[in-house]
Amino acid sequence: MRFNPVIIGGLGLVPLVGIAFGASGDAPLPSASTSTATTKPLVTPVAPQAIGLKEISKESRECIDCHRKESPGLYAQWGESKHYRGNVGCYECHAARRDDPDAMRHYDFTISVIVSPKDCARCHTRETEEFIGSHHAKAGRILGSLDNVLAEVVEGNSAFVTPGHPEGVSAAAASGCWQCHGSQIKVLPGGGLDPSTWPNTGIGRLNPDGSEGSCAACHSRHSFSVAQARQPETCGKCHLGPDHPQKEIYEESKHGIAYAANIDKMNLGSSKWIVGEDYHAAPTCATCHMSETRNQPVTHDIGMRISWNNRPVTSIRPEVSDGKMGLPGKDVPWQVRRQNMKDVCSACHSKPWIENFYTQYDALIDLYNNKFAKPGAALYAAAKPLLKPVKFGNKLDFIWFELWHHEGRRARHAASMMGPDYTHWHGTYEIAQHFYTDYIPELEELAEKNLNSEDPDRVKAAEALKAKIEEVLNSDDHKWFIGKMDPEEAARRAKAAADFKKRYAK
Ligand code: HEC
Ligand code: HEC
Ligand code: HEC
Ligand code: HEC
Ligand code: HEC
Ligand code: HEC
Ligand code: HEC
Ligand code: HEC
Repeated sequence: MRFNPVIIGGLGLVPLVGIAFGASGDAPLPSASTSTATTKPLVTPVAPQAIGLKEISKESRECIDCHRKESPGLYAQWGESKHYRGNVGCYECHAARRDDPDAMRHYDFTISVIVSPKDCARCHTRETEEFIGSHHAKAGRILGSLDNVLAEVVEGNSAFVTPGHPEGVSAAAASGCWQCHGSQIKVLPGGGLDPSTWPNTGIGRLNPDGSEGSCAACHSRHSFSVAQARQPETCGKCHLGPDHPQKEIYEESKHGIAYAANIDKMNLGSSKWIVGEDYHAAPTCATCHMSETRNQPVTHDIGMRISWNNRPVTSIRPEVSDGKMGLPGKDVPWQVRRQNMKDVCSACHSKPWIENFYTQYDALIDLYNNKFAKPGAALYAAAKPLLKPVKFGNKLDFIWFELWHHEGRRARHAASMMGPDYTHWHGTYEIAQHFYTDYIPELEELAEKNLNSEDPDRVKAAEALKAKIEEVLNSDDHKWFIGKMDPEEAARRAKAAADFKKRYAK
């Protein structure tokens, strides 16, 4: 095990061992899951070296004797895990106290099906604390958010009625959003789990013991293979698709290509996995966002190496979004996080290469923010008084939503992870196309329609919107569209086009 100086990074400052560990044979079992605290430290942070139990407990032996017949696949997965080798059996994870909210009688035992981060924390303190302090653990909080109107109303209805949800929930939310973000687990009388809320391993799941998150989102049970967690497919369950295609971007990038060509050289199962020392062929998602470097330990706070949060309309710094969520990362400035990431790159690249990459990335963020996000948001705000107040009740709502939430994110995400096609064709090109050919015309129509309204307030709003459109279209970034390109630039471009023709035209 290596003891390395941490560059810095919030909870990453805890004294380090590769695997934090609290359990030994006499660790208190089962877990005390009475507190509902969520962001407070779960257990004391400093942990001794990992050690398993001396032998399989007598309780677990009974589970195993029966379950190796009842569920042979599950038993075999456990049998190939490090837990098996450490004598961590079924009972060590599933044991419950009678007063646990999800306790159930199971033969001679009191168990719970859910094994929450709080349960893992008894043995994996550091990983759990970092995870709990990260955006991942908070991903279930979007469930009350306005965006939910999409799954609950626009796409769905409340016809999915279950014992735990007699009022009904949306089937689109249960099988969609909740599977990535996490459900709020509902316990039925007797300890069974409500079928609308479980099975679910969404990353910010709200557990019956009050904890947030699911370690099984990345650590597939019951093998809990760290090799699998290091593979990009693990993250790809959630990080893909039109609004955050990180998986596709990675596959397109030189890094993904090198990974695909060299999986067998990645040494994925090695317990020590330091980039540049234990493997060198390619970085995976885990390499850049979580895994050990020569200078940093593993972190389970995936925010500690990113210097932009590219999810909102306009990119913001991660310490700002962490502050809004009450996360400890509010005290870790973006410069420190960027330094942490550069340290990862430095295993394989030179300093100028890395610095120049960040200069390119920042330029794309500035371009998107200034040319489209800020004017786009101002136009949307100006249109608001003229829209039906129902969210997603207007065509304009969809156009604007896709502009920033899909295309705008794609361009930014792809520039950050070396995916040129998603930066351009699925990114800035689509933003521009929809901005000029859908958004502006829809806004113009809205203004025109209301200029002659009976309602003086609407006329005023229409005039203001019209003025805003004029202002945006006459700005340097957009005046080309109304045929007002700066004559000097127009001449420069005409000359370049003529030269090009001379070179290539038949
Ligand atoms: C005598 C046999 C037997 C013993 C002993 C036993 N189980 Fe089970 N267990 C079962 C069977 C059968 C099921 C149900 C399987 C099914 O419905 O497909 C089950 C289901 C479960 C479930 C899922 C329950 C649910 O509602 O989804 C868990 C978790 C579980 N067992 C854990 C344990 C643990 C931990 C122990 C030891 C403390 C244990 N079992 C001991 C036979 C046993
Ligand atoms: C390291 C902790 C750990 C150990 C050891 C462990 N489990 Fe689990 N088990 C989990 C987790 C995590 C889940 C997923 C529950 C959740 O979503 O919170 C789970 C789910 C289950 C389920 C219900 C899900 C399903 O697929 O049907 C059963 C049954 C089960 N475990 C049985 C066992 C048995 C039997 C053993 C021993 C051979 C065992 N577990 C050992 C952590 C553990
Ligand atoms: C009773 C203590 C205990 C509990 C509870 C426990 N673990 Fe472990 N865990 C261990 C031990 C022991 C090891 C093996 C350490 C080693 O050999 O390096 C381990 C190893 C691991 C590894 C590394 C596997 C690898 O391939 O290197 C992961 C991942 C892991 N545990 C996840 C979990 C998760 C997730 C939970 C909760 C669902 C959990 N553990 C609950 C004791 C525990
Ligand atoms: C395929 C998995 C998946 C599904 C389904 C999904 N999301 Fe997400 N969602 C994500 C991921 C991954 C992110 C983070 C993307 C990033 O960091 O770039 C995210 C981000 C978000 C955010 C932004 C959070 C922030 O901190 O800025 C909101 C809000 C959100 N999702 C709401 C929803 C809602 C509501 C639904 C259903 C209508 C939904 N999501 C469906 C995976 C999913
Ligand atoms: C976002 C995916 C993800 C989630 C969620 C996650 N882990 Fe991990 N975990 C990983 C990856 C990737 C590694 C491998 C890091 C490495 O060594 O390269 C890892 C490694 C580990 C290890 C091995 C020791 C170490 O630190 O390298 C343990 C133990 C562990 N995780 C426990 C947990 C626990 C407990 C939780 C829930 C509180 C959890 N993990 C949640 C991805 C995740
Ligand atoms: C089960 C779904 C799921 C999996 C698996 C998952 N993520 Fe996430 N991830 C999310 C969601 C949802 C968010 C947005 C959370 C929020 O802010 O509400 C997110 C956010 C992030 C962020 C932004 C963090 C921040 O501080 O802004 C990073 C980076 C990230 N994930 C990386 C990873 C990596 C790397 C893996 C794989 C090792 C992974 N994720 C696996 C769902 C997932
Ligand atoms: C070569 C290193 C590298 C690899 C490999 C990598 N990323 Fe990233 N990732 C980055 C960088 C750099 C950023 C931008 C950091 C910043 O803003 O400073 C980033 C940003 C992110 C974000 C934040 C997006 C947001 O909304 O702000 C997420 C989520 C993410 N990556 C997930 C992944 C996933 C999932 C994979 C694998 C499929 C992956 N990354 C592979 C380097 C990497
Ligand atoms: C494990 C080694 C490794 C790490 C770590 C790594 N890279 Fe790379 N990178 C490569 C390899 C291999 C290539 C492909 C080189 C080639 O094909 O000529 C590459 C290519 C690139 C490219 C060129 C992309 C293109 O399309 O030409 C950029 C830019 C880049 N990396 C930036 C980064 C940044 C920034 C980081 C850190 C966030 C990073 N890399 C981390 C190995 C790595």
